[in-house]
Amino acid sequence: MRINELSTPALTVDLDVLEKNLDRMARYCREHGVGLRPHTKTHKTPEVAEMQLKRGAVGLTVAKVGEAEVMAGAGPEEILVAFPIYGSEKLRRLAALAKARRILISLDSETDAREVSGAATALGVTLGVLVEFDAGLHRCGVEPGKACVELARKVEALPGLSFRGLMTFPGNIWGTKEERSQESQRVGEAVRKAIAAFEQEHMPLEIVSAGSTPSAFLEIPGITEIRPGTYVYNDLNTYYQGVCKLEDCAVRVVATVISAAVPGRAMIDAGSKTLSSDLLGSGPKAGHGLVVEAPGATIIKLSEEHGHLDVTRSERELRVGDVVTVIPNHVCTCVNMHDEMFLVRGQEVTGSWRIAARGKIR
Ligand SMILES: Cc1ncc(COP(=O)(O)O)c(C=O)c1O
Repeated sequence: MRINELSTPALTVDLDVLEKNLDRMARYCREHGVGLRPHTKTHKTPEVAEMQLKRGAVGLTVAKVGEAEVMAGAGPEEILVAFPIYGSEKLRRLAALAKARRILISLDSETDAREVSGAATALGVTLGVLVEFDAGLHRCGVEPGKACVELARKVEALPGLSFRGLMTFPGNIWGTKEERSQESQRVGEAVRKAIAAFEQEHMPLEIVSAGSTPSAFLEIPGITEIRPGTYVYNDLNTYYQGVCKLEDCAVRVVATVISAAVPGRAMIDAGSKTLSSDLLGSGPKAGHGLVVEAPGATIIKLSEEHGHLDVTRSERELRVGDVVTVIPNHVCTCVNMHDEMFLVRGQEVTGSWRIAARGKIR
């Protein structure tokens, strides 16, 4: 089947581009002596996780226990749940996963550490712990420095837990090359402070985990591994930050023009339930995706099922029945909207993957 024969809207991935993106990051990490523990929240697909592991990933990262349960099927030796998991039902499931493979969890409170410890001891397993510190995003994490050591000592004293190191998410590294490199200085300083506090106490750190796609190629001293997620597919946010080229965007939503009745407008069958409502947070910070075949036709608004195109500056006339492909603003939330993803080589559709971890929010 050819791409333009797909029933739309349809999520597609160009396998050549995906493989190139995976190879590039794996090579970078190998050459720079840094571990790659990719965040699977972008693809939510065990087949992609297997490709990452085959290319040398040291483990996988997830945010949710449900994602960990799915990604366990890809056969990683270790999964990092980079999210403070709280609540007895979820912690029971997390501890159960640790019976068959190493599980690491990040947390930033003694309260959570006690809960995790209780769940681990109840099932007779040991969970690894990374203490999360705040490197400037102000989302989660204790202050870098003494507070990290204090929490690490509490973790070490609790049964069923093994303190393994530190974790931070440098999501504040965002924007233009200059903005990102400036912010990476701040993150670097936070990392240095956090590590120095442990050196002072002669406490070894096995892991210092950081990284994202916009920060992936900025070398921050002291980090032992990075966790980029978006790099597998890339999106407009990555493109406008200059971290990838447009041709490195592997995921496209194939859509059909279903109305052109209103002058200056064309409607496609891809709205917020297909593309997700996430706005563009970089570059022009406007629009809901890029129409590859007519970049001058801007997606100015999304209804649930309609994408509203302003075609007044379109390079070509868009007629009912025309098939277009859209690069999403934020690929992670877009992928999470879909049950399946069609695999493409050139113009041919060669198969599909079930997005097995989509919607796994618990
Ligand atoms: C904790 C954590 N690590 C890693 C990532 C991956 O970042 P990116 O999607 O920019 O590659 C995220 C993204 O939200 C995250 O929350």
